[in-house]
Amino acid sequence: MHREVYKNLERRKMSLIMIFAECSPGSALALLLLFVKTLIVGLATDTYNCPLSKQDCTALVALELDGYLSFSNTADAARDFGSMRHEYPSAVLYPSSVKDIAAVVRTVYASPSNLTIAAKGSGHSIHGQAQALNGIVIEMSALRGIHVFPGAFGESPYVDAAGGELWIDVLRATLKMGLAPRSMTDYLYLSVGGTLSNAGVSGQAFRYGPQISNVNELEVVTGIGDIVTCSPFQNADLFFAVLGGLGQFGIITRARIILEAAPNKVKWIRALYSDFTVFTRDQEILMSQAQENSFDYIEGSVIVNSKDRHGWKSVPFEGQIINASLIPDTAGPVLYCLELTKNYHDHEVNTDDKKVSSLLEHLGHLPSLIFSTDVPYLDFLDRVHVGEERLRKLGLWDVPHPWMNLFIPKSRITDFDAWVFKKHLRDGINGPLLVYPLDRMKWDSRMSAVTPNEDIFYLVGLLRYASLSSAASVESLLNENKEVTEFCRAKGIGYKQYLPHYSTQEEWSRHFGFHWLKFVDRKLMFDPKAILSPGQRIFIRKKGSFEDSNTLIE
Ligand SMILES: Cc1cc2nc3c(=O)[nH]c(=O)nc-3n(C[C@H](O)[C@H](O)[C@H](O)COP(=O)(O)OP(=O)(O)OC[C@H]3O[C@@H](n4cnc5c(N)ncnc54)[C@H](O)[C@@H]3O)c2cc1C
Ligand SMILES: *[C@@H]1O[C@H](CO)[C@@H](O)[C@H](O)[C@H]1NC(C)=O
Repeated sequence: MHREVYKNLERRKMSLIMIFAECSPGSALALLLLFVKTLIVGLATDTYNCPLSKQDCTALVALELDGYLSFSNTADAARDFGSMRHEYPSAVLYPSSVKDIAAVVRTVYASPSNLTIAAKGSGHSIHGQAQALNGIVIEMSALRGIHVFPGAFGESPYVDAAGGELWIDVLRATLKMGLAPRSMTDYLYLSVGGTLSNAGVSGQAFRYGPQISNVNELEVVTGIGDIVTCSPFQNADLFFAVLGGLGQFGIITRARIILEAAPNKVKWIRALYSDFTVFTRDQEILMSQAQENSFDYIEGSVIVNSKDRHGWKSVPFEGQIINASLIPDTAGPVLYCLELTKNYHDHEVNTDDKKVSSLLEHLGHLPSLIFSTDVPYLDFLDRVHVGEERLRKLGLWDVPHPWMNLFIPKSRITDFDAWVFKKHLRDGINGPLLVYPLDRMKWDSRMSAVTPNEDIFYLVGLLRYASLSSAASVESLLNENKEVTEFCRAKGIGYKQYLPHYSTQEEWSRHFGFHWLKFVDRKLMFDPKAILSPGQRIFIRKKGSFEDSNTLIE
């Protein structure tokens, strides 16, 4: 097969040389340039290594791309943050235009093989969701573009960002104009398209909703290869399908993201609790209050009641110490840390301090066990990156991460605490264990993202690091996760996985509940051959001819 492609190229070269010999100097020069271009394209796409079928190779290599396809550097596309699954694609596309993406999707759509495509943002998935075994991975970071529109004449400010841009770069660009997205994630080295395919939540989501609730418009390449601009008012079905759509309906090439005036500083507060009921009561009271009388960011975490690295030592800010004798002897095996921020501008520091103190007076945390610091807004939003650099130095970043995130309905969060936090995970999880409330009213049920069926639900994030990269340790952590979901099911807790990972269609249909039929309908409409994001394991592309309409698995 390789030899075939090679022979083809040789033949093309020969015919060029033959024509070249008979032409005038002008056209000879043009032909020479054409020849050089053909050679460069040939080299850039390194055709000789194309491991796909002859038909797929020929069709792909014939595309006139602004960017290029590589058949050899596929290792990065088989890696992700979870570091538990490594599926090698046959090719990687580095697009330089949206047209490149559309052209490759159309070619794959027309192919009779079972070739698939995964857009890859920053590859921070856990279970290979951005991988495409023997398919094509599109390296979305190759396509750049951030344009800030500061807003004028009553128009609200927004930023247009390419799907592969990282949130940190979007934020840096908007901050230059005194603006920022309203709803971020805890960690910013994630791509715009990657988080919008899930939801994008953090301590700002209680007020503004997840990131998918803060987008006005998208440009999407569908599974058929159409380039479509969509919004709540134009091609609305595609717009809502793609948001939280796990990459199943289209590739987000551009997103229009709502901005707000950015503060330049935040007061960052952490308060320690021993009573879970008081802790969640405070979180819920704070999230229900009007903006002026509350905080701008509300999260929380479970920590072990010990000197451990993930214990109470992790609560104070740098340069501060915690007086552990203030923790009551009656406290249980775990403690709870409420984390808040209040935005301000440098010039209002005094009035704001007073406001913050009066807000804090009503909280029920352990007396004196409250800490605060003042940091620039960017430093706060980019806080996890500091931790990343530290872990990288210790060689603890590129280890397996059997993470699991759940949405737990408010009515059952106390039951969840009693068994999961206080018993099952009482020794900690060697990593952060997040718990904070979200407001379902800020989510749009037309979107693909699903939540529990209650107005308030909690995000519970088990962000664990396997200390040994031994398979046994990873396996036991995954088992521990499974025991948590099994507990929920046994007790009838109507949880949803966030960043869901399932591998059978039965599980997926249970996950989506009564939204499942809509999900399948949208798949048939926008990606009828099940080409996109095969790593999610929701649909499988079957081999079939171009005319075969029955390629989508039932
Ligand atoms: C350290 C860390 C911190 C995190 N913190 C948060 C957090 O605070 N809040 C939160 O909500 N999540 C958080 N996440 C989870 C994160 O939002 C998801 O893992 C997200 O998918 C990562 O984006 P990515 O660009 O790395 O996506 P990838 O892993 O590259 O892709 C994820 C999925 O989206 C698809 N996809 C990627 N780009 C596109 C596109 N342009 N168009 C269509 N589909 C696309 C892929 O095919 C794949 O199926 C965190 C993850 C990590 C590792
Ligand atoms: C810690 O708290 C205890 C109890 O209030 C107090 O007696 C002690 O002096 C405190 N220690 C420090 C270092 O502040």
